[in-house]
Amino acid sequence: MRLLVATRNPGKLREVRARVQGLDAVSLDDVQAMLEVEETEDTLEGNARLKALAAARATGLWTVADDSGLFVDALGGVPGVRSARYAPGSDADRIRELLRAMEWIPEGARWAAFRCVLALASPEGEVRLAHGECRGTILRAPRGTDGFGYDPVFLVPELGRTMAELSLEEKGRLSHRARALDALEPLLRELAGPAR
Ligand code: IMP
Repeated sequence: MRLLVATRNPGKLREVRARVQGLDAVSLDDVQAMLEVEETEDTLEGNARLKALAAARATGLWTVADDSGLFVDALGGVPGVRSARYAPGSDADRIRELLRAMEWIPEGARWAAFRCVLALASPEGEVRLAHGECRGTILRAPRGTDGFGYDPVFLVPELGRTMAELSLEEKGRLSHRARALDALEPLLRELAGPAR
């Protein structure tokens, strides 16, 4: 069975492929779908659903789409669903803006969560959702060079390292996306059918 992973990010496609045998996982580039869906909803669930449904309808394939973001407790969940658009410019500019907004927040109250929602949509418009979360604290200055987005200021307390100081394998085990994939895996196995 063919499964479309509605992304142009080869890393995300690889993550799904690694999970389930018996599914021929392809990306938007593989099916040459000219699909740009604007993230107009105000929840991760809404945007993941929107992207999965649009791609499934356009291609006639079962489709997985994701949406994710950083939710800071003391800011009432900001930047949240708007994480990618929180400030103009680069990831470094958005980190600067976040640290400025959090200057007044003392140690011990700087908790945050990375959250990811995956939506699995059928070509007929049926949707199932899977959630993943990773909790940590926000540092006052960036540390580490790997990863992307807010990784350099997100400390994983049990490891004493930021997400940007983890290897790809380590982040791939504990990240919000990995945990959402854990939750989605049984649904993907169902789709792939009995193991041969
Ligand atoms: P999207 O789900 O790919 O649209 O990502 C939304 C935004 O959330 C990204 O642009 C990042 O700013 C942030 N984000 C999501 N996942 C991560 C992560 O694993 N590390 C750092 N930032 C992330």
